[in-house]
Amino acid sequence: EKGGHEYFMLKEIEEQPDALANSLRGHFAGGRIVLDEQRISDQDLRDIDKVFVVACGSAYHSGLVAKYAIEHWCRLPVEVELASEFRYRDPVLDRDTLVVAVSQSGETMDTLEAVRHAREQRARVLAVCNTNGAQIPRESDAVLYTHAGPEIGVASTKAFLAQIAANYLVGLALAQARGTKYPDEVGREFADLEAMPKAVEQVLTTVDQVRDLGARLADSKAVLFLGRHVGYPVALEGALKLKELAYMHAEGFAAGELKHGPIALIEKDLPVVVVMPSPRGRAVLHAKLVSNISEIQARGARTIVIAEEGDETVRPFADELIEVPAVPTLLQPLVSTVPLQVLAAEIARTRGYDVDKPRNLAKSVTVE
Ligand code: F6R
Repeated sequence: EKGGHEYFMLKEIEEQPDALANSLRGHFAGGRIVLDEQRISDQDLRDIDKVFVVACGSAYHSGLVAKYAIEHWCRLPVEVELASEFRYRDPVLDRDTLVVAVSQSGETMDTLEAVRHAREQRARVLAVCNTNGAQIPRESDAVLYTHAGPEIGVASTKAFLAQIAANYLVGLALAQARGTKYPDEVGREFADLEAMPKAVEQVLTTVDQVRDLGARLADSKAVLFLGRHVGYPVALEGALKLKELAYMHAEGFAAGELKHGPIALIEKDLPVVVVMPSPRGRAVLHAKLVSNISEIQARGARTIVIAEEGDETVRPFADELIEVPAVPTLLQPLVSTVPLQVLAAEIARTRGYDVDKPRNLAKSVTVE
């Protein structure tokens, strides 16, 4: 049942191209993005003036990634918030607010309560969910199902990638309704998404290299993760995976924050994973990260760099280089997250832990 794999998580990591392809299938028809159950009228969708994404854990990170795309495509303000925090604030919500609730299980209590709170305030709620008929989609105004298939490993992998893709579909549906993108542009963005399963397949060819690296890092006391722009939530996700699976201290930072504190943590041999943006994207972003890596390397840290293939500028600063294929900037998290999943799983395995069932954690958290 593990398909020849030592643990489910590795099998599920390898299923990610299918999880993406299945989650995109059928959502672009007749030149338009189509969601699943859409009980929000086109007019109401057009009137949306603010978006909240509420979720927990990895699902929350998928929202942080999507914020970049939705703001860019739709020119709408997007706030991403932990469901457990959202409901105890007094968030400003009304009929023109879209609340996107992202949940693999569809049963996470904090997210469900956030949905209820949002609906009481008459906000429109759209659920992104991997489980048919679960409570969160049942209580929402619209639903977009991810089709990652059942996820057995407690740590989310394929569901996380599918959540990013689904959140992007929500962004494109909004851009289409608001007219901030022409139909042919929406079609092109969708085609870029459709090319991602192939790109992820290519990343999977680095699994052996990353497993080997993981085995060598298993004795580390801590690992730091740095990123900028969409690479920042990827860094947070990489750190979360390592904490929950390997019980290792791990933290993700926005690389620009280094000099505001975290650089004090850098010491000799500390592994620091850096998620590089594409050198073909915004040059300033890339240059700033190169300078961040050189600073931490100068302080003796062990730099592990996830970079686009052919990015020669980072080579001198990378003690370990993991190459990912070139994809559009906003889609990079779909490739750069994959090595971080493998890394966390392999460090955990080497330390002798059950990768599929980390201690103290449950697959679906139905208590607050
Ligand atoms: C981390 C992980 C958790 C879940 C979180 C939300 O690997 O799996 O952080 O992402 O508990 O769960 P769902 O998506 O079911 O609401």
